[in-house]
Amino acid sequence: MDRIVIQGGTRLDGRIAISGAKNSALKLMAASLLTDEPLILTNMPRLADSRFMGHLLARLGVRVEEGPGAQMQLHAAEISDTFAPYDLVRKMRATFNVLGPLVAREGQARVSLPGGCAIGARPVDLHLKALETLGAEITLTEGYVEARAPKGGLVGGEVDLPFASVGATEHTMLAAALARGETVIENAAREPEIGDLAACLTAMGAEVEGAGTSTIRIQGREKLDGITHAVVGDRIETATYALAVAAAGGEVTLDGAVWAHNKALWNAMGEAGVTVKPVENGVRIERNGARVKGVDIETQPYPGFPTDAQAQFMALMSLGEGTSVIRETIFENRFMHAPELIRLGADITVHGNEAVVRGVERLKGAPVMATDLRASVSLVIAGLAAEGETVVNRVYHLDRGFERLEAKLSGCGARIERQAEPAES
Ligand code: EPZ
Repeated sequence: MDRIVIQGGTRLDGRIAISGAKNSALKLMAASLLTDEPLILTNMPRLADSRFMGHLLARLGVRVEEGPGAQMQLHAAEISDTFAPYDLVRKMRATFNVLGPLVAREGQARVSLPGGCAIGARPVDLHLKALETLGAEITLTEGYVEARAPKGGLVGGEVDLPFASVGATEHTMLAAALARGETVIENAAREPEIGDLAACLTAMGAEVEGAGTSTIRIQGREKLDGITHAVVGDRIETATYALAVAAAGGEVTLDGAVWAHNKALWNAMGEAGVTVKPVENGVRIERNGARVKGVDIETQPYPGFPTDAQAQFMALMSLGEGTSVIRETIFENRFMHAPELIRLGADITVHGNEAVVRGVERLKGAPVMATDLRASVSLVIAGLAAEGETVVNRVYHLDRGFERLEAKLSGCGARIERQAEPAES
C-alpha cells in the first residue's frame, strides 16, 4: 500500500485545477440507469470511488467507457441484473443509490444495505421511506433491501424528510424522474450537488423545479433521454486546497472553483485573516506572513459550514492564534483526525461533538494515518504546514476522493511524494 511523504514548511504558490465533484459524479453515474440511451458525463473526476461505481454499474449491464480527457460514457441499453451484492455496496455507500433507479426502470431490485462506516452509523431509513412513498414495497431480508414497484410502476408522492439528508433527497429525485406524475420533496437538502443532479435529470427530460431550495418538485417521465452533462466543480476539493494554502502560506488560484458554493467557508477563513476572493472562473487564496486567528465553526447542512471540510479546517485552526471551538452536528463520530493532529503537536480536546483547538505556533512532522477520506487529507494539510517530515499512511482513503493530489500540490511548490509502503515485518 502506498503512503504520502511530505517535507513540510514550504509555501504554496501557483494554480490548481479543481476537478468535478465526487459526490455529484457518483449520483450522476447512477442516473445512467434511468435511460436506454448513452449518458455522457464530462469534467468527471478520476477517482477510486468513481471507478468503483463504474464496476457496480457494469455488473448491472451498463456499458461504462472512459473517454478522452475527463469524459465518461455510460450506456444502459439494457439492465441485465437488478442485484447489487454486499461486497459492492459495503465499500462505498453511494452505490446504494442504484436501488431507486433500478426499481423505477425494472420494477424490482435487490440491493445490499450499506451498513455503517467510520464516521457514523449512517442509516438509510429516509431513503427507504421515500421509495415507499412512491409506491415501492420494501422488505429487508438477510442484510438486503428488496424493493418492488406496484403494477404500472412507481407513482409520484409527497416525501417529507425529517432531516435534510443529501443522499435521501438525491435518491428520491432519481426514482421520481421515472415515476408517474409529480413528486414533491419537502425539507430537501440544498447542496450544490442536488442542483447538479436536477440539471442533469431536467436535461434528460424530467421536469425538476426548486433544486437549491427546501421544496423540490419533480415531474416524472415514462422515458428519459441520453444527454451530455458537465459535472459541477468539487466544492470540497476547493475547500481542501484553500485551507492547505491558508495553513502553509502562499498565493494560489483555484481554477474551476465555484465561489458561490463555499460562502460559509470563505466567511470563516476571512475571519481567520486569510484573503479569499473570487476571480474569473475561480477563487484566489492568499496568506502572507501573519498567523491565522482561531475561529469557531459548527457544521450544518448547506449553505452552512460543510462537514466534509471540518477536518481540514481543524488542521488550519491547530496553527491559529487563540482558541477555536469546532462543533460537528452531521455525523456522530467525525473527529478521528484529532488524535492524529495531536501527534503532529496540535493541542485539541474533544468532548462529544465539540473539539476545542488551542492553536500552537508550529506543528512537527510525524507518521500518521486516518480512517476516512477527509480526515486523511486534513493530515496532509497539517503535514504541509509542519516542520520536518510527515508520512500519511493508508493512502487509499485519499485516492477515493482526491484526483492527483500530489501532482496538484507539488505543482505549487509542495514537497510531497507517493511512496510504496514497506511490507510489515
Ligand atoms: C453525503 O452523504 C456525502 N456523500 C457525504 O460526503 C457528506 O458528508 C454528507 O452528504 C453531508 O453533506 C456522498 O454524497 C456520497 P446525509 P449522505 O444523508 O448522503 C443521517 C465524503 O467525505 N441519515 O445528508 O450519506 C446520517 O446518518 C462523504 O465525501 C439518517 O439518519 O449524507 C447523517 O448523520 C462523507 N437516515 C445525516 O443524516 C438516512 O436515511 C446526514 O446524512 C439518511 C441519513
